[in-house]
Amino acid sequence: MTYENIVVEYSVQGVGVVKLNQPRTFNALSGPMMDEIMAALEAMDADQAIRCMVLTGTNRVFAAGADIKEMSEASPAEMINKAFIARWDRLRHLNKPLIAAVSGYALGGGCELAMACDMIVASESAVFGQPEINLGVMPGAGGTQRLIRTVGKALAMEMCLNDRRLTAIEAERVGLVNKVFPVESYLQEAINLAAQIAARAPLAIRLIKETVNMALETPLSAGLAYERNNFYMLFSTQDQKEGMAAFLDKRSADWKGE
Ligand code: CAA
Repeated sequence: MTYENIVVEYSVQGVGVVKLNQPRTFNALSGPMMDEIMAALEAMDADQAIRCMVLTGTNRVFAAGADIKEMSEASPAEMINKAFIARWDRLRHLNKPLIAAVSGYALGGGCELAMACDMIVASESAVFGQPEINLGVMPGAGGTQRLIRTVGKALAMEMCLNDRRLTAIEAERVGLVNKVFPVESYLQEAINLAAQIAARAPLAIRLIKETVNMALETPLSAGLAYERNNFYMLFSTQDQKEGMAAFLDKRSADWKGE
C-alpha cells in the first residue's frame, strides 16, 4: 500500500516506524491520515517480522489534533457516519507494543493519540495539551478518560477545562512520559527501546501488554485472576522452557515466539 500522509519504515531489529508526515497542517489528524495510520499499524501488527512499533511525527509537531477544517461544519450524523472517532478504537486492538515518540506539539487528538500508545518517549520540546475548550468542544478521543488515569483528576481537569499544557519535563514528572531526550536523539532512543522489547519473548510480551491494559478495565480481584491465568498459560510455551533453561545454564535465551 502507498501512503500520502505517513511514511513507513521497517528496521532489521523487528521494529516498525510510522511517521506522520503532513507538516504543512501540523499533522492534523484528518480522516485519511487516521485511516493510513491505522492501516500501517495493523499491517505491522500482522507482520511476523515486526515485534514492536513506534509512532512518531516531525521534530516540530507530533500532531496538532483532529483536523479542524474537516470537522468545522460537520453535523453529529456526519461524524457518526464517517466514524470520525470510532476508527481510533482500532488502536486498542493492536497486539504488539506501540511506543509514541513525541516532539513538539501533541495537542488535542495528538495528545490522545500519544496516550493511546503503550509508552511515550519525548523530546525536550514536546508539549502535551487538550485545547479543545478553545474551540467550544471537548476531548473526544480519550483525553478525559486517559488523562485522569495517568496524571490524576486535578491536573486532568485543569488540562481539559483551562488548556493547561505540560512541558516534556512536567509530563515525565507526572508519569505521562517514560523518558525525555534531546530533540536530536529522542526518535533513535524510542527505536532503541522498541528494539530491546522486540528482542524479548514475543508471547510473554503480548500477554503482558494485554494484562496491563486489562487493569484499566477491571476491579483488582478480576485483574489479578486474569494475570494469574495468563502467567500459568505461558507455561505451555516453548519460550518459558527455553527462558528458564537458559537462566539455569547461564546463557542467553533463544526466543521462538512459540
Ligand atoms: N486542524 C487543521 N489545521 C491545523 C490544525 C488542526 N488541528 N492545527 C494547525 N493547523 C494548521 C493551521 O490551520 C495552519 O494552516 P495554514 O498555514 O493553512 O493557515 C497551519 O497548520 C499552521 O498553524 P498555525 O499558523 O496556527 O501555527 P502556529 O505555530 O501559530 O501554532 C499550533 C501551532 C499551536 C499547533 C496551532 O496551530 C493550534 O493551536 N492548532 C490547533 C490545536 C487544537 O486546537 N487541537 C485540537 C483539535 S480538536 C481535537 O483534537 C478533538 C479530539 O479530541 C479528537
